[in-house]
Amino acid sequence: MLRQAEHDVSFSQNLLTGEHLSNPTLHPMMPDTLTVAPAAATSSVLSLASGYGHFAVPAVALAAATAALTTAGQHAEPLAVAPAAGLPALRAALAARYQRRGARNVTAENVLVTAGAKTGLFAVLSELLKAGDDVLVPTPNWFGFSELVRRAGGMLRPLPLAAANNYALTPEALRAALTPATRLLMLSNPNNPTGRVLSAEEWAGLLAVTAEFPDLWVLSDEIYEGISFGATPVPTLLAQPGAGPRSVVVSGFSKSLALAGWGVGCLVAPPALAAAVTARLFATGVSVPTPNQLAALAATEHAEEIGAALCAQLKPTRQLLLEGLAALPGAGEVFAPEGTYYVFADFRRFLPAGLPPAEASALLVRRLAAAGVEVVDGATCGAPGFVRLSYAVPETVLTEALARLRAGLVAE
Ligand SMILES: Cc1ncc(COP(=O)(O)O)c(C=O)c1O
Repeated sequence: MLRQAEHDVSFSQNLLTGEHLSNPTLHPMMPDTLTVAPAAATSSVLSLASGYGHFAVPAVALAAATAALTTAGQHAEPLAVAPAAGLPALRAALAARYQRRGARNVTAENVLVTAGAKTGLFAVLSELLKAGDDVLVPTPNWFGFSELVRRAGGMLRPLPLAAANNYALTPEALRAALTPATRLLMLSNPNNPTGRVLSAEEWAGLLAVTAEFPDLWVLSDEIYEGISFGATPVPTLLAQPGAGPRSVVVSGFSKSLALAGWGVGCLVAPPALAAAVTARLFATGVSVPTPNQLAALAATEHAEEIGAALCAQLKPTRQLLLEGLAALPGAGEVFAPEGTYYVFADFRRFLPAGLPPAEASALLVRRLAAAGVEVVDGATCGAPGFVRLSYAVPETVLTEALARLRAGLVAE
């Protein structure tokens, strides 16, 4: 039996090599799930690894859920069980919000409520993919895609993008990577872990290419859309003039709407696919509890205010992290990501020499853990030598974590 720390490192080390697939003991206990458990309470390690921000639950959401529970209690009634596709009012509110964001053709019929974004991703991948189907994923990208694609039967093929080029995905690079057999192009926008946001102009160039491939679907995971520090809101795939009939957006409430732990996500797909995914969800799971959906409805109706409040809360820690990284030896210019609450720091200069990249990256992450800071190994996202650091943590935690990072990196 591996101890937990060894187990996590081994798993992340092997994620992109596929070694974990043949070793069932390397179970995916990834940082997004690890850190909501009180890891820091049982050890002195501070975590910058969690995918979930340290945000207060929005008051409107809390009030909506509380009212539903209070009413059920007062009337001694059971909670209503929501339809598999989600509460009609929430689907309609989500559709209305996509329309306000420029996706004029989205109606409630296209929208499903899912038990978090992950459930939506897995259901849609399971509908779209046949065994061995080619799924192209520009990397770095969210480590969770790897297992989701594999378990849905697909074969994830990374398309590496360069930090030096600000992770630009050019139409030429996309065209060169796609084949007539590619079933799906899947990405996150804003990107987890780099924070890179695809602009409308970039989408236009990429969608002109995807249109050349009649069997190709495009899936944009937009779960971080409300956390953005750019001049314009993050453009949704669905609002792009070039978005074809095989476009899907997955999103959720656990990041941009501060409802981590509530288990609510959503999915927007063409009607036939939405119906097939609904049938799958009905057959294989339960609908999201009604109080949680009512909380999500309230959050959807106040999405812009909630997103703005989170960004205002995040500004000081964003600045603190960027300054802390810039002050490390050999830092050069530190790139300020436009979206998400992560910085994907280039620590390649701190890698031990003479080891294969993934091994060196895992060793570096272990060294940081020994110094008292848990980070996400960039190797799990396709970029060994980088680490994902969250600044959605209290300022005191970040200040201390930066001091420990520095001590861990400059020692030796
Ligand atoms: C890009 C991306 N998609 C989906 C998820 C999963 O979201 P949820 O908590 O709603 O299942 C995450 C969580 O870290 C994520 O980063």
